[in-house]
Amino acid sequence: MKFFIDSADVESISQLLDMGVVDGVTTNPSLIAKSGRNIFEVVAEIAAMVSGPVSAEVVATEAEKIIKEGMKLAEISGNVVVKLPLTFDGLKACSYFAKQKIRTNVTLCFSATQALVAARAGASFVSPFVGRLDDISQDGIALIEDIATIFNNYSDIDTKLLVASARNPIHVLMAAKCGADFVTIQPKLLMALIKHPLTDKGLEIFLNDWAATGQKITS
Ligand code: G3P
Repeated sequence: MKFFIDSADVESISQLLDMGVVDGVTTNPSLIAKSGRNIFEVVAEIAAMVSGPVSAEVVATEAEKIIKEGMKLAEISGNVVVKLPLTFDGLKACSYFAKQKIRTNVTLCFSATQALVAARAGASFVSPFVGRLDDISQDGIALIEDIATIFNNYSDIDTKLLVASARNPIHVLMAAKCGADFVTIQPKLLMALIKHPLTDKGLEIFLNDWAATGQKITS
């Protein structure tokens, strides 16, 4: 499984890049609004920072207008992926973009049947929202398991499973155990994945014991 960062905050994304584990970025209208920036400017800046896919979401709801918006977003950069809502009009636009070889990320997925239809519409990525299901006492990870099982049943499904709305390390762990292709997470969650108290405690012990030797590895 590979990691995307779910953010439109350029500074937060930039701080994570040196670790070498950020394979792409996803944004959505709420994240763009939170950034306070023009969508074309901030997406262009992010697309220049990462070599991987950068999802930029349309806001139109009718297929013809979705297509017009998606074409404008795709023109920003070669690594921009057009993010579309999992609706009838969104899937009509998805099918159009698939024929045009423009990559899409079909989002707001909350059922396995939605994911299957999106895959058949030619989605490059499908984004089931784990956290928002958990938020209403439904089993978000069970959805990921179902989609992974269905996608694995058919060798002609090329759609990548991109787990979204991951709220905690357990969501990430379970997404990986399900065999998801990608997970998109907020910067703070990526940092949480690498934190462990025994690592901190063990390093403190190593450094204290080393200090007692009086040695230096570099002058
Ligand atoms: O950007 C798509 C998804 O990751 C949104 O997650 O936390 O707003 O439910 P969240």
